[in-house]
Amino acid sequence: MNLKKLGNTEVLVPEIGLGTWSYEGGVEPLRAGIKLGASLIDTAEGYYTEDIVGEAILPFRDEVIIATKVSGRNLAHDSVLRSCEASLEKLGVDCIDLYQIHWPNPVYPIDETMRALEKLVDRGCVSYVGVSNFSVRQMREAQHCFPNYPIVSNQVLYNLRSRSIERELLPYCLDNDVTVMAYTPLDAGRLCRRGDWVLSRIAAETGKTEAQVALNWCVCHENVIVIPKADSVAKTVENCGASGWRLSPEQLRMLEEWF
Ligand SMILES: NC(=O)c1ccc[n+]([C@@H]2O[C@H](COP(=O)([O-])OP(=O)(O)OC[C@H]3O[C@@H](n4cnc5c(N)ncnc54)[C@H](OP(=O)(O)O)[C@@H]3O)[C@@H](O)[C@H]2O)c1
Repeated sequence: MNLKKLGNTEVLVPEIGLGTWSYEGGVEPLRAGIKLGASLIDTAEGYYTEDIVGEAILPFRDEVIIATKVSGRNLAHDSVLRSCEASLEKLGVDCIDLYQIHWPNPVYPIDETMRALEKLVDRGCVSYVGVSNFSVRQMREAQHCFPNYPIVSNQVLYNLRSRSIERELLPYCLDNDVTVMAYTPLDAGRLCRRGDWVLSRIAAETGKTEAQVALNWCVCHENVIVIPKADSVAKTVENCGASGWRLSPEQLRMLEEWF
């Protein structure tokens, strides 16, 4: 499993992590992924999967990076503190490795939210702070209100068919040492199905599957990691096999022209 730096920190994270939105696989797929090095697990208070993540990581706590999120409706100062406490409890840990704001919400002034997050880092309840679904402008504002720590990641929609972040957000994150955590990297499973001509051709050329090619295309971008969700051990193992090799420049060019 290839590793990448988390933001501007010295922490290394796997380029393939494990998503858990609408996850129903129980502990085994997550544990299989962790054993293969996919040791970053993404969850959220809004997913109702923090408890199963907590159970899955029990034998591996020190090896796993837990990324969870505070919901956009809980961004008032005291709500952030309460949400974090509830997440710690459900996950069964003393500290959340990466705590992310799930969605920006203009109802709550961002300085209030960031002040609460700073308190959580100061208290040792959270190691690193990230955001999700933030634009460049929103990232700048959030960082401005959070002067003592870096915002290390932005979790956003990114896959071969959804590439709007390439215009502004992806270059901004690269220039500012922010990890892009690509969600829905398989386009909710649609990129795994045989039938797309170029994807199938490159899968045949590389001896990989369509899912592995689609994920590898994402992680070929320097500061991008992916968090596919899979309910079975077999699909999780397959997704982990998207790391440890690289598409050729010609294959990348073909994919980018086709999609
Ligand atoms: N921050 C946000 O706002 C946000 C929004 C959406 C998602 N996310 C995060 O990103 C994660 C991933 O996104 P996602 O769940 O939307 O979509 P995804 O990972 O692109 O796709 C998941 C779908 O693909 C299927 N799949 C996975 N691996 C496969 C394989 N190797 N072969 C065939 N099918 C495969 C899964 O099947 P099975 O389920 O049947 O195994 C599931 O139906 C989420 O779980 C969540 O952690 C975050």
